[in-house]
Amino acid sequence: MAKNQTIYTCQKCGAQFLRWQGRCDQCQSWSTIVLANETTGQLPEVINLGELELKSAKRLTSGWREFDRVLGGGLVAGSLVLLGGDPGIGKSTLALSLAKAIKNLLYVSGEESASQIKARAERIGLDLNDLKFLGQTELEAVANLIKKSKPPLVIIDSIQTLAVSGSEGLGTIGQITLATSRLLALAKETGTTILIVGHVTKEGAVAGPKALEHLVDTVLYLENDNKNHYKILRSVKNRFGQTGEVGIFEMTNSGLKEIKDVLNIFLSRQNQERPGVAISLIWEGSRPFLVEIQALVSRAPFGYPQRKASGFDANRLAMLIAVISKIAKINLSNQDVYLNVAGGLKIKETGPDLAVCLAIVSAFLNLPIDNQTLILGEVGLSGEVRPVGQMANRVNQALKLNFKKIIAAKDGLEFSRPELQTIDHLTQAIRIINQNNHDLKMAEE
Ligand code: TYD
Ligand code: MG
Repeated sequence: MAKNQTIYTCQKCGAQFLRWQGRCDQCQSWSTIVLANETTGQLPEVINLGELELKSAKRLTSGWREFDRVLGGGLVAGSLVLLGGDPGIGKSTLALSLAKAIKNLLYVSGEESASQIKARAERIGLDLNDLKFLGQTELEAVANLIKKSKPPLVIIDSIQTLAVSGSEGLGTIGQITLATSRLLALAKETGTTILIVGHVTKEGAVAGPKALEHLVDTVLYLENDNKNHYKILRSVKNRFGQTGEVGIFEMTNSGLKEIKDVLNIFLSRQNQERPGVAISLIWEGSRPFLVEIQALVSRAPFGYPQRKASGFDANRLAMLIAVISKIAKINLSNQDVYLNVAGGLKIKETGPDLAVCLAIVSAFLNLPIDNQTLILGEVGLSGEVRPVGQMANRVNQALKLNFKKIIAAKDGLEFSRPELQTIDHLTQAIRIINQNNHDLKMAEE
C-alpha cells in the first residue's frame, strides 16, 4: 500500500518534488517551491460521465456577427479569452467596442489613462454611463473588485501590464503566465468572462501571447498586412467551439466596422487581364473567399535566383517552382520569382496551389489568364493535381458567381458543366491556358 506522501510544487512551473528545496531544478527560479498537499489516503471521487448533465454554456453576444461567429456564437460566460496581435492592429479598439452590446463591462488598463480610454470610447460612440474603467493594475486588487461587483465581462489591457505579487517583473514569462492562471481560476469562480489582451512582442514566443495559449479557453488573433485596412480576426483555439472561422473588420474613423459580404474583399478589382494573375477560391471556416494570386517572374541578375512570397508559405512556393521546372519543363532556375496574395490575405491551405503555379507560368510566358477563370486544386510533387476539402462546394460557388471557366482537380467531382474543365495534372492546366490564349489571338486576327 502506498504511504501517505508529502509533495512540494514549484509555483512557477508546476514541477513536483518530494523534498523542499530553495531552487527549482526545472525552471531554476528561487523560493518558488511550496508544500502542495498532504495526501490523506482517501479515495478521490470519480465522476460517472454517463450521469453528468451537460448544461449548454451561457453566451454573451458582442453585437457583432463577425465576432460572435469566430467564437462559435458569442463569449462563453466564465471563460478566459486571449486576444493577441501586433501593437497598433486594433486590439484595444476591438475590446472596448464590446461595451456597445455588453453593459457594465469593466475595462482594466495599464496601457492607457482613463482620459485616453474615454476619448476612444467617444470616438467609437459608446454610451459612457455603462462603462467602468479601472487604472489599477495590481492583480489582487482587480480580483477583489471582480469578486465583489461580478461584471459580466472584464477586459485586461494588457496582460503584460498586470502586476502579480510573487513574480519578478512586468512583461516576463513568469508574470504573464502567473497572472493568466490566476485569471483563469477567477473567471471560473465568479462566472465573469475575462478577455485578456496580449501584444505579440518582438521576441514573439517568449513573453508574448503564444506562451499563454495552453492556459486559456479561447485564443483569438487580430491580423492584417499593415497596408490593408481589413482586419482579420481568427480563432486558433476554442474550448467552446470550432476554430478556423474568421471575422473580417475594417478600421474606420469611428472604430471597427464588421464586413458582412466578404467573398470579394481580397480581389484587387482590376478589370484588365495581366500576365501573372490567377484567381482561386479558399474556404475559411464556413465561408468561401476569392483570392487573387499575383506572380512576377524576371531574369535573375546574379547567380542565385530570388524566391519571395507574401501571404503564401515560402517553402511551398519553392516546391511548386521545382515542380514547374522539373515536371512541366519550364525552366525557372535562372528566374527570380515573387509571389503576392492580393489584399493582405495569408493563405493557409493548399487549394490555391494550382492557381499559384499558373500565375507563375503566366508571368513567365507573358500569357494573361482570362480573369473569368477560376483555378482550384492542390499540386503534388509529381505535378498531379488533387482535390481539397469542400471541392464540390467551391465549384458550386464559382458557378454561382458566373465564372466562365473553372479549372479544377478531377477527383471527386461527379457532375459536369460546360464551364468546368477537370484535370489531374499540372501540364494539362498549362495547356488549357496556352490554348485559350491561342484561341484569343486567332479570334483577334
Ligand atoms: P488600438 O486599438 O489602440 O491598437 P492596439 O490596442 O492593438 O495597439 O488602435 C489601432 C489604431 O487604430 C490606432 O493607430 C488608431 C486607429 N484608430 C482608428 O483609425 N479609428 C478609430 O476609431 C480608433 C479608435 C482607432
Ligand atoms: Mg492597445
